[in-house]
Order: sequence, then structure tokens, then C-alpha cells
Amino acid sequence: MNTKKITIIGGGNLGMAIAEGLLKSGFASADQITITRRTLSRLEDLKQKGVTVTANNVEAIRTSEVIIVALKPFNVKEVLAGLKDSFDPNKHIIISVVTGIFLKDLAEIFDSPIPIFRAMPNTAIAIQESVTCLCQQGATDNQINYVKELFDQLGITIPIEEKLMDAATVLGACGIAFALRFIRAATQGGIEIGFDAKTASLIAAQTVKGSAELLLKLNRHPEEEIDKVTTPKGCTIVGLNEMEHQGFSSSLIRGIGASYKKINS
Ligand SMILES: NC(=O)c1ccc[n+]([C@@H]2O[C@H](COP(=O)([O-])OP(=O)(O)OC[C@H]3O[C@@H](n4cnc5c(N)ncnc54)[C@H](OP(=O)(O)O)[C@@H]3O)[C@@H](O)[C@H]2O)c1
Repeated sequence: MNTKKITIIGGGNLGMAIAEGLLKSGFASADQITITRRTLSRLEDLKQKGVTVTANNVEAIRTSEVIIVALKPFNVKEVLAGLKDSFDPNKHIIISVVTGIFLKDLAEIFDSPIPIFRAMPNTAIAIQESVTCLCQQGATDNQINYVKELFDQLGITIPIEEKLMDAATVLGACGIAFALRFIRAATQGGIEIGFDAKTASLIAAQTVKGSAELLLKLNRHPEEEIDKVTTPKGCTIVGLNEMEHQGFSSSLIRGIGASYKKINS
């Protein structure tokens, strides 16, 4: 059972989703969570649920052991540098979900042997279905297990080396947009062949969910499941091959490559 108090600095989209997920999962009770931002009116829902909402980062850090940093990359260094003296390496664990900010950048700011984690979740964290890739420096096994357990409440967690963080960002976080564009395109196709938009979207979304679950729950290879639905001379293989002639797999692979190039430029 989690007994630690958790502060989320930067209560925007991701920060709020993490707070909601921790509450819903029961990992933390409302009185164990503090969330900060400057525009407090946007945190009204969480306040109603009993979460402490404040613009006072120093006080929030003082009253917690686990500090989740969900600020934007452009101001994270400045904000954390201003809070540097509030952190105690013997008390605090820092978890940054900020894209593109390395462990060494964070360590430089704190200039102390404080345990630091980098986590890369995706927006499905709002419904506890994220994949969160994690790396760390300076943490004990207990702290590593704790942080893994925290993100396991919000989906699944995969420990990775930091050098793979950009790849995790593209495949996991940008991946939400790639998968949703597939669903939108399938919906448009569904309308063309007779369904209204709402029904087509529901069929497309549930089909993608079912396909993913076949891999996740039954541990199958995608091609094994594809073979089951591609009858010789049937309509599935004809459609699939036409998609491939039009560059379906290739465009996905190239898109992932382009995102990766961009993140590194
Ligand atoms: N969205 C994703 O899919 C995703 C996935 C993985 C990682 N990330 C990373 O997560 C981070 C947050 O993303 P987001 O989409 O949640 O951004 P966001 O909605 O802009 O949230 C950032 C929040 O920080 C608050 N803030 C700014 N200055 C502050 C300060 N001095 N003290 C406390 N709070 C402050 C802002 O609120 P006020 O202006 O009211 O202070 C804002 O709500 C980003 O670094 C992003 O790269 C996002």
C-alpha cells in the first residue's frame, strides 16, 4: 500500500490525468495528492475530490516525498532551478515526464544525489491504459519498484535505457495519434460502404481494441492472427494487399522514422 505523499508540479493535461488515474486506481487517496499550477481554477474538479491544489510549489514539495514534474519542456529548467533548495535527496524522489529533458539535465539542476526518474507515458494514462517507459539514475531497488508500481496503476510500465527515450516517445506517445488516424481513416472507409459516422467509428475503434487485445492477452504474433482472417482468394487478403500496394506498412514505418528524426533534430 502506498503511504507516500505525491506532488504533481504542473497540473496541465498530463498532470491532471496522472492525478485522476492515481485516485481512480486507489494507489493514492485524495489527501495523499497535491497538484500545482498557477491557474488554480482549472484544478477545480480535483479540488472537489479532496486533492490539495495550490500555486505554492515550495510548500507542495515540503509536504510530499514523491515529486512528479509535468511542466512543459520550455520552462522546466527555470522553474526547477528556482525550487532547487526545496529538494532533499534523503527524502524526495523526482519523476519527470517532460519530453526531451535528460536525466543529466535534471541532475545538473539539482546538483545533489537525488534519485531521478524519467517517465514517458501517453495520453491513455487518463483511462489507466498508458504504456509508460521508465529510466532512472541514483534510485534504490525499493524506489524503482515503487515508481514502477505507481505507473502500473496507470497502464503498463516498461523499464528502458535512457538512450531509447526518444524512440519510446515516438512509438508510445506519438503512437496514440498514429493509431487514432488509422481509426479515423477506417471510419471514413466504413461510411463509404454504408455505415453512418457514429456506427463506423464504433466498429473501427472496437476492432482495433480487439486486435490489440489478441496480442496483449493471448500473446500472439500479428501475422498469426492475420492468417486466420485471410481466406484464400477472399476479400480480406484482396483489401490488405491493395493497402500494401498503396504503401500501408511502408508509410507507417517511414512516418515513425520521420518523427524520430524530428525529435532528434
Ligand atoms: N500529452 C502527452 O501525450 C505527453 C506524453 C508524455 C509526456 N508529455 C510531457 O508532459 C509535459 C506536460 O504536458 P501537458 O500536455 O500536460 O502540458 P500542459 O497542459 O501545458 O501542462 C503544463 C502545466 O504546467 C503549468 N505550469 C507552468 N508553470 C508552472 C509553475 N511555475 N508551477 C506550476 N505549474 C506550472 C501550466 O499551468 P499554469 O499556466 O496554470 O501554471 C500547465 O498547465 C510536457 O513536458 C510534455 O512534453 C506529454
